[in-house]
Amino acid sequence: DGDVYKYYADGEWKKSASGKSVPIINPTTRKTQYKVQACTQEEVNKVMEAAKAAQKSWARTPLWKRAELLHKAAAILKDHRASIAECLVKEIAKPAKDAVTEVVRSGDLVSYTAEEGVRILGEGKFLVSDSFPGNERTKYCLSSKIPLGVVLAIPPFNYPVNLAVSKIAPALIAGNSLVLKPPTQGAVSALHMIYCFHLAGFPKGLISCVTGKGSEIGDFLTMHPGVNCISFTGGDTGIAISKKAGMIPLQMELGGKDACIVLEDADLDLTAANIVKGGFSYSGQRCTAVKVVLVMESVADALVDKVKAKVAKLTVGSPEEDCDITPVVTESSANFIEGLVMDAKEKGATFCQEYRREGNLIWPLLLDHVRPDMRIAWEEPFGPVLPVMRINSVEEGIHHCNASNFGLQGCVFTRDINKALMISDAMETGTVQINSAPARGPDHFPFQGLKDSGIGSQGITNSINMMTKIKSTVINLP
Ligand code: G3H
Repeated sequence: DGDVYKYYADGEWKKSASGKSVPIINPTTRKTQYKVQACTQEEVNKVMEAAKAAQKSWARTPLWKRAELLHKAAAILKDHRASIAECLVKEIAKPAKDAVTEVVRSGDLVSYTAEEGVRILGEGKFLVSDSFPGNERTKYCLSSKIPLGVVLAIPPFNYPVNLAVSKIAPALIAGNSLVLKPPTQGAVSALHMIYCFHLAGFPKGLISCVTGKGSEIGDFLTMHPGVNCISFTGGDTGIAISKKAGMIPLQMELGGKDACIVLEDADLDLTAANIVKGGFSYSGQRCTAVKVVLVMESVADALVDKVKAKVAKLTVGSPEEDCDITPVVTESSANFIEGLVMDAKEKGATFCQEYRREGNLIWPLLLDHVRPDMRIAWEEPFGPVLPVMRINSVEEGIHHCNASNFGLQGCVFTRDINKALMISDAMETGTVQINSAPARGPDHFPFQGLKDSGIGSQGITNSINMMTKIKSTVINLP
């Protein structure tokens, strides 16, 4: 039936033989907005076979031609910004302007990846043997980067387009084929994005997009013998995937509890602005959101007042109206967030605003005087709720940050650059931002998490390198 979006395989749009579909619930209306195909394991097998076959000739397609196609896809993606953004608004309740930004940023990411790929994949290495003890100059080694094969990309709901292309573009420029398993919320946005790649004219089977239930095809995909690399962004599922995956390179980004350490000499207006942007953009549903503020007691009252004043100005409502705070992605997510709020309430946190929820919509909430015995001191709400913990020394702040299982990003606000650098050095996170909120972008910067926050490093250059292997040929002279 025409109501169900088709999946993409072998260069065609197909219905699943399962005859079943997966509903996508609009977070705002809480009604079914779209339906996608519930693909079967047999269909996944076919996609993998096609991906393997297509990759062989793609790897032999000249690099400049691969780049040309990616540039074409990037331009088409940008042309389709409005229709894709509309899906993002309906599926994941992303505020309208941010939804457009996500698509434009994605087009730029694809173009940049094409350019970067042409540069770094166009270079190889030449070594001679006599630099190693005991060797004469009798061996020449030529090495270059070759593709891995089939890359499986699994992006999360919060950036179903951008965190898909951040995997697709490096995989393709490096000569790999690509199988995309989009998140359920965001699947239609992802299918629209794939449609842009389809229009660009990539070879059949090189790119596919399978939709369906995690319980049916999730493990089947990640444990599939045809997969040569997995790039995943999401939650705890990533830990399970990394335990089950075979001997293949993994790129994982699994969330964080990014701390914002505020010293006594910080510019409090700048800090407050960044806390609100970092903590409440897309209603806190970003792995790089500020998830705990660790502020020196002497400036805590002043900072909390400034943050409160800015929180009061946030607009709350529907993504269509481009409100700052929009409904969180699912009802279960809203329930989880509420659980953290209630726990903090029972244990005596100070509520800077009244707690308010209607359906999936949760009003922005700042919790002051949070203590380590509260769940919200450690867990990531992935919602518009931000805890503030007061500290009496920098060491106390660093200690709290490093006691977390996560280690994605962190930030420090101070006018003393030496202190900032020492704190950055001491924080066990993949990135530390000085005087700004955590963020992944610009997208060519390295992006990585320590501990439970991930495996490997992303960012355009790192992703291209990660999706290749070194191949050498040694010329032995007589
Ligand atoms: O949700 C995780 C994303 O990688 C964060 O990206 O910093 O651009 O929001 P962002």
